[in-house]
This record gives sequence, C-alpha cells and structure tokens, in this order.
Amino acid sequence: MLPTLALFSLLSAFTATVSAVPCVQFDSSWNLYAFGGSSDVKLGANTTWSSPSTSPISTSGRPPWTGTNSQCILSQTNNAMYVVGSDSSDLSKIYVYNFASDSWSTQTTSGAPTDLGNTRSASVLDHDTNVLFTLTTSSGLYQLDMSSVTNSASSSALSWEAVENSSFSVDGYSVTATQAANHIFYFGVPNTAAGSANVFVVHYAYFQPDAQKFSGSAQFPDTAGQAISIPTESDSVPYSMVFVPNDFSNTYIATHWTDLGDYSITTGAPFATDLINSTQTIAAPTSQDKTASYAASPYDLVQIDSNGDIYYYATPVNADYTVSSGGSWQKLGYSLSGGSSSSSNSTSSAAASGSATASGSSASGSATASRSASHSSSASASGSAASASSSAASGAGNVVARGDLLGLGLGVVALGASMLI
Ligand SMILES: *[C@@H]1O[C@H](CO)[C@@H](O)[C@H](O)[C@H]1NC(C)=O
Ligand SMILES: *[C@@H]1O[C@H](CO)[C@@H](O)[C@H](O)[C@H]1NC(C)=O
Ligand SMILES: *[C@@H]1O[C@H](CO)[C@@H](O)[C@H](O)[C@H]1NC(C)=O
Ligand SMILES: *[C@@H]1O[C@H](CO)[C@@H](O)[C@H](O)[C@H]1NC(C)=O
Repeated sequence: MLPTLALFSLLSAFTATVSAVPCVQFDSSWNLYAFGGSSDVKLGANTTWSSPSTSPISTSGRPPWTGTNSQCILSQTNNAMYVVGSDSSDLSKIYVYNFASDSWSTQTTSGAPTDLGNTRSASVLDHDTNVLFTLTTSSGLYQLDMSSVTNSASSSALSWEAVENSSFSVDGYSVTATQAANHIFYFGVPNTAAGSANVFVVHYAYFQPDAQKFSGSAQFPDTAGQAISIPTESDSVPYSMVFVPNDFSNTYIATHWTDLGDYSITTGAPFATDLINSTQTIAAPTSQDKTASYAASPYDLVQIDSNGDIYYYATPVNADYTVSSGGSWQKLGYSLSGGSSSSSNSTSSAAASGSATASGSSASGSATASRSASHSSSASASGSAASASSSAASGAGNVVARGDLLGLGLGVVALGASMLI
C-alpha cells in the first residue's frame, strides 16, 4: 500500500512540475486573483497591491493546473471564470470558478477537437452569447455554448461544435485571439501584413475574407503572442484589446467598434471616430516571458509570468479610450509559489494527486464521447449552419436578459439567420 501511494505522489509531483503555468484573473468587482500555485489566492482590490494580504480560495475541485496552455477566462456577466486546458490528462474539461460563492465545479464536454488548446490565447469567450470559440490548426474553428453554465457546471456534458475553417491559412500559427465588439481578432497569423489582424464576426459566424488593417503610428508585428480584451465597467462588449507579441516590441492596445446593423456607419462609437480600428502603444512588459498570461479590469492590466511574479500597469486606457502611454509596469508585492518552477511543491503535488484520482475515469469516458461526436459533426453537411444558429439562439437568450440590447440583438440574429439561408 505504502509503495503504491509513494509512487503515485511521485508521478503527480512530476506532472505538476513539468507543465503547470499560473494565471491571473479579476472578478466582476475587480478584485485580483492568482491561480495555479500551491494554492489559488485572492489578492483583492488594486488599492492593496503594494502590500497585498492574500487569502487562499477553495481547493475543493480546483483544476490540477497541469496543462501547458491553460487559460483563465472571465465571464463578466456571470461573475465566473472558465479555466480551459488546465488538466493535461483531459484538455476538454472546463473548470468553472464561481467568484461569489468561492466554489469550483467541472464541466465535462464532448466532441472536442483533438488539437484543442493550441496556445494560451487560443480560446475566446464571446461576451454577449457566452459561447467559447477556439481556433485549432488542423480542424478549424470550434465553439462550445456555455450559456447554460453561467457560474456552475451542468451535470450533462456540453458538446463542442465545428463552426468552419478559417479564411486564412493557420499552418504553423500559434493562435493569438481576442475579442472586441462581437468580432474575434486573430493577431500574428503567418503571412499577414504587420498592423493587420484577421477577423471572425461572431453574430454572422463568418470569417472575413481579408485581414483588417489598424491605423495608428505604431503597427503591431506579424508575430504570435498573447491577447486579451479589456472589459468595461458597464459590462458591455469590450472595445479595447491588448496584444503582447512575442518580440515584446510594445504592448499594443487595439481599439475596435462596429455598428452591428450597418458596418458603414461610423457614428455612435463610444470614442472618437479615428480610434475605430486603431492601434496605440504602452510599454512592453518588464518580464518578457512568452508563456506569461494576462488579465485586465477596466482600470489595470496584469501579467503573471511562469515564475509566479505579478506585474501591473495602472490605467492603461483612459475613459475616452486613448492610452496612458507614460505609465509603467509595477511589480506587485506578492509572487505565487508552488507552481511549475517554485521549490514549495509538496502542497501542490498533494492537491494534484487528489484531483488526478477523480479525473481518471471521466477522462477516458469523455475521450470516447468526443471521438464519435466529432466524426458525426464533420460528416454532416449542415454543421456550420447548425452551429451558427445555436450561437445566434444563445445570443438571443442573453439579449433578452440585457434589455438595453434587445431590439438590436434580435435584428442582428434575424439578419444573421437570413444570410445563412
Ligand atoms: C475544414 O477543412 C478540413 C480539411 O480541408 C475538412 O476535412 C473539414 O471538414 C473542414 N471543417 C469544416 C467545419 O468545414
Ligand atoms: C473596422 O473593422 C471592421 C472589421 O474588419 C470593419 O467591418 C469596419 O468596416 C471597420 N471600420 C472602420 C471605420 O474602419
Ligand atoms: C483602482 O481601481 C479603481 C476601481 O476599482 C479605479 O477607479 C482606480 O482608477 C484604480 N486605480 C489604479 C491606480 O489603477
Ligand atoms: C520539490 O521541492 C523540493 C525542495 O523543497 C525539491 O528538493 C524537490 O526536488 C522538488 N520536487 C520536484 C519534483 O520538483
């Protein structure tokens, strides 16, 4: 008995040490959290960051943090975080953290593409529909409708659906995607002009044939990296995107808005017209770690690197969406330890072995499910129309909850449906 246990904990310590990568995220009241160390911690509001008093959050059901491309994604409307790719034994599992109740649950999924989780910026949660979009490099764009999940997992598996192949070649692409105004932008697509990004229009389930050029004095390079959106205080769609390319030439802030009903309209943007599809810059991060991950509140941009060191840039974007380029990255007075490269690994491997036991059987269950589901969805000619309408349907559901967008949202859904017919 004892030798078996010892072997098991050695194996899980090995797994955790090889591949864990930490991440940071905010709750919808803009308290900062850091995840993936020996414990996951709440760091609190930005007023406390110079001498943070951290509190550990629930360990029950937390992710094993063994994935190399884990992503911690805020569902702002639901005050929840969806963790993608954090369990290397089953990348299709999504861990859901409910910030309000400090509790974890695990969402099983079926039909995941075999090459899920290309990078730490491969998945994007669409703000209005709560649908997760993931671009893969051998099976196209996939979506997972999380609208029924809100802040805790549902007991039945959710199905990934193939949407369509991209209009651009993804050969050798390290996917670097994020969202502004219902458009998903792909930065650093090979053979795209510097300063241009490729676009998937969520409400039309449509990859634009050409990349969108961004104006501004500094063009971002055609290089992969990390990308995130900056949420808004009013919980609208985000309009600012942060792109940190792997050459660390700058931190690029790309600003986008389109009138959903008529793309030729340029009035009505929440900022000056010349900021539509523009790029501005702030300083490159101090820690130039390509595997670092990022999170933003409307007020602060935060980075955690693979050492667990945390840096922040205060007020990167002003209320009028211009940037505060004179700022700098500050080191937060706390580092996350016990993750991939820290010495205090005993707690972390104990936690990892606990969840590894639980995940063993469900991992094989969902792998079977995903093989059969993905065969049937790619065999079906109506795959892309079906997935597009399910995205539209969940969009409509969310729009009903968001009275301010009701008329506009229904119009767009109707237009999207007629375009598909
Ligand atoms: C994407 O392209 C591949 C190969 O060209 C094809 O097998 C697959 O069915 C396509 N996927 C979709 C969703 O159209
Ligand atoms: C901004 O980019 C979107 C996406 O490519 C495009 O539809 C829109 O026409 C652009 N707007 C302006 C003012 O450049
Ligand atoms: C801290 O966050 C608050 C909102 O929670 C914001 O008003 C303030 O500007 C932020 N301060 C800094 C220095 O980022
Ligand atoms: C865990 O940390 C200890 C030092 O605290 C170190 O001696 C040991 O090699 C580490 N184990 C692994 C698997 O990294």
